[in-house]
Formats: sequence, C-alpha cells, structure tokens
Amino acid sequence: EFHLAPKHVDFSFDGPFGKYDKAQLQRGFQVFKEVCSACHSLKFVAFRDLEALGYNEAEVKAIAKQWAIKTPDVDPKTGEMTGRDPVPADHFPKPFANNVAAAAANNNAIPPDLSLMTKARHHGSAYVYSLLTGYREQPAELLKKFPDAKTPEGLHYNPYFANLNLAMAPPLTAEGQVTYGEGQPKPTVDQMAKDVAAFLTWTAEPKLENRRTAGLATIIFLLIATGLAYMSYQNIWADKK
Ligand code: HEM
Repeated sequence: EFHLAPKHVDFSFDGPFGKYDKAQLQRGFQVFKEVCSACHSLKFVAFRDLEALGYNEAEVKAIAKQWAIKTPDVDPKTGEMTGRDPVPADHFPKPFANNVAAAAANNNAIPPDLSLMTKARHHGSAYVYSLLTGYREQPAELLKKFPDAKTPEGLHYNPYFANLNLAMAPPLTAEGQVTYGEGQPKPTVDQMAKDVAAFLTWTAEPKLENRRTAGLATIIFLLIATGLAYMSYQNIWADKK
C-alpha cells in the first residue's frame, strides 16, 4: 500500500499516432549526458545513433569524445585504467571500470544500464519520470506499521521504487541543473525528468515511429485485401443457389 503506481504523464509519443519530439529527445540526452551518465551506461546505444536525434557527424564525434572507455582496458600491473577516447561506433560505455568499482561508489548497488529501462518496468516512461520526481520523506504511518522498514543509512525513500528504498540519491535536485538552449522550456526538475524519460524511451525503442507506420500500412492493406476477397467470393458463387 506504500508502493505507488507511476504518475500519469503525457508524452508526445503516446497513442498509436504519437511521435517523438526531437527537441525533447535532445534535451533528455543533455540531461543523460550531464547527470545520469556519471553512473549509468547505455550499452545498446551507439554514439552514432544520436544522428537520429538531429546531431550531425561532427557533433556526434565531439560528443563521443566526452566519454571515456574505461573497461576492460585496465592495466593489470598498475591497476590503472588505460582508457581510450570512444569513436562514434562505440556504445555509451560504463562509467566505472568494473562492477566492484561501481558498487563501491554507490553504497553497494550497481547502477543498471539504462538502454532498455523503460521497457523493463511497467509504464516505463512514466516510471522513470515518477522515480526521478518521487523522492520524499518516509511516511509516518509506514514507520508506525513497519518500524523495521526505516530507510537504512545511505539509501533513499522513493514510493515508486518497488523496494521503496534505493541506492540512487535524487539525481535531479535543482532547477537549472542543466542549461537548455534558446527557445526551450525552463529546466525545472519536472521538465528535466520528463525529458530524460522521453530520451530513455527512445533508447529503448528508436524505431517506434517506423513500427507504427508499418502497422498502420498493414492494417490498411488487410482491410483492402478483405474487401477484395469478399468481392471475389461473391463473384465466384454468384450463379450458385
Ligand atoms: C538505479 C535512472 C542518475 C545511481 C536507477 C534506475 C533508474 C535510474 C531508472 C533503476 C530503478 C529500478 O531498478 O527500477 C537514472 C536517471 C538519472 C540517474 C534517469 C539521471 C537523471 C544516477 C546517478 C547515480 C545513479 C548520477 C550515481 C551517483 C544509481 C544506482 C542505482 C540506480 C546506484 C541502483 C539503485 C538500487 O538498485 O538501489 N537509476 N539515474 N543514478 N541509479 Fe540512477
């Protein structure tokens, strides 16, 4: 009863005719880059996939350079990370050299890859948005009912997370944490959360629009084919009683 279903949010890609809003995906990418990528990878997304969001080749190259490949190029002698600069064909790498380092930096929890997160959770887009905007004090009734459920030190209470307590501290905390370009909405926490949720929907389903267009074409084709089949049926049996 303390775990909440995701909030209701409207996205441009809702419904069978919904489309991604590229400006929003770019803003969401900016949030991912400046905030989430400190801990999370996108192992199924290559830098060059960003061209679908409207970045050109040179921009993609420059973006890739802002990351570093830390795994698995660890020098076994010194333990030092001998990384390299990613190229556009590389996927968004893990920010930690390995899981031990990732867990050590995050109170023993390993930040999961986010490529498919919006598919892995029910109502994933709304879930990501709700999770990011859902941190709060633990309700008094919960503690009264389950005193042992007190949020442990280093974890954070969030009713949208199935376990209620998660190792990720609120990543979006202040308006203007990310600076949006000219003509874009104000980067409130709410807006940034929505934008990054939209971006992570795109990473999980970059071909959503093609799928829907193909589906629509298929349905129209089947309707026409049904009509033709019915007409030929009538024709074939026309002289039989
Ligand atoms: C888990 C999103 C930033 C550390 C998660 C989960 C999501 C998420 C969706 C999975 C929750 C689940 O399993 O249902 C984001 C987004 C971020 C962001 C969108 C940027 C806006 C960060 C940052 C850190 C971090 C900056 C590290 C400082 C973690 C950790 C977990 C986690 C440790 C695992 C939590 C647990 O299982 O207890 N994040 N994250 N995240 N994130 Fe983030």
